[in-house]
Amino acid sequence: MKNPGKTLFVCSNCGNEFSTWSGKCLACGEWNTLKEMSAEISKLETVGEKIIAKNLSDFKISSNIRIKTGYSEIDQVFGGGIVVGSVILLGGEPGIGKSTLLLQIIAGISDTLYISGEESPEQIKMRAERIGAGSKNILVSETADISGLEQAIIELSPKIVVVDSIQTVFDSRITGSAGSQTQVKESGLVLQQLAKKHKVPIVIVGHVTKEGIVAGPKMLEHLVDIVIYMEGDRNYEARILRAVKNRFGNTDEIAVLKMGEKGLKEVKNPGAIFLSEAKNTPGSAITVLMEGSRSLMVEIQALTTPTTFGYPRRTTSGFDLNRLNILIGVITKRAGLNLGNQDIYLTVVGGISTHEPAADLAAALAIASSYKNKPLPDGVIYFGEVGLTGEIRRVAGADRRKKEAEKLGYKVASNYREIKEAIEKNTF
Ligand code: TYD
Ligand code: MG
Repeated sequence: MKNPGKTLFVCSNCGNEFSTWSGKCLACGEWNTLKEMSAEISKLETVGEKIIAKNLSDFKISSNIRIKTGYSEIDQVFGGGIVVGSVILLGGEPGIGKSTLLLQIIAGISDTLYISGEESPEQIKMRAERIGAGSKNILVSETADISGLEQAIIELSPKIVVVDSIQTVFDSRITGSAGSQTQVKESGLVLQQLAKKHKVPIVIVGHVTKEGIVAGPKMLEHLVDIVIYMEGDRNYEARILRAVKNRFGNTDEIAVLKMGEKGLKEVKNPGAIFLSEAKNTPGSAITVLMEGSRSLMVEIQALTTPTTFGYPRRTTSGFDLNRLNILIGVITKRAGLNLGNQDIYLTVVGGISTHEPAADLAAALAIASSYKNKPLPDGVIYFGEVGLTGEIRRVAGADRRKKEAEKLGYKVASNYREIKEAIEKNTF
């Protein structure tokens, strides 16, 4: 229990609380994320209500009642449909398609309640018309204040509630404006309790930017049952739906979606959907990622430019920065490329992120290709983990990756000794 009246500092990245301010969060290591928050909300009552306890055998299990979304791939990401009474956080960059996805899902479920702090009911109606969703069964709240949500749930008994977004709705019983740390955290708690008490699933939308977190969805990750992120690049049509936490299922399967003129469509065989048109340019290498039972071909791009002053810059998007630094070390030492005075940028095209070691080889070759300003051979894909001694290791699912790539007309580079020699001799 927190001390009433005292000031607290809460990290907007990880949600940990401290009694003193510091520039760096001691828990997650992020800089400038500690924000002051009044601890008033947790005033200690002298006597609380008596806890009611019942025998475990008297409780009925209802957690396996699931609502189908009408989209088989999306159901899989939820672990087989949306569990009644669960709280789901749907995160993603602004404009990526979160509201569109949720509108499509609830349009197929009878009696749903949509609370929007972002858009007017007219705007929501326009979107519903655009995606051809019948809007008769969707109730739209005219207020972004969720203090009366419990009453609404009792009276309307919706099958599902959507709160779009946690940064723009607020609970007028709680101090602070919409989007503040206190509001995000406390209204998150309110929503969680309502979902459990009234056995209604609640989907909370949270905006997240590429650079980090706008206001607290990370903090909510601990609180909710399921965390799903929508990945992608607004300039491309492909999107990935990925569960990073699921109390009611596993997090292996992703869903690949395509944003079109009439909303999002499922892509059952994603194959090469993430590949851009540009081919055969220096700094580009193609790899194949495995996501659950799916394989995805993606392009990795690198750019190396001489450092103009000071320490060389290394920046990544969709790729682990530490991993990039290791690869740079290996290439420098084992393939003899002098990258010590180069700024290096590495991107997984299409707004995807990967932590797969299998992407190492393509990343290393993209860097070498950019440095030498020579394109890699056309129509070849690369996968393999790069070890510290410069060896290229076999990765899980190698045969399946190879099969998928060949099905789409790609050749798989498998003679790694030749690849290494080609880099060293500048002949690729
Ligand atoms: P939106 O669902 O509003 O994103 P979010 O809720 O994550 O902020 O999606 C907005 C973008 O999607 C917008 O740029 C327009 C585009 N879009 C389509 O391309 N097709 C469609 O059918 C719809 C509804 C939106
Ligand atoms: Mg939206």
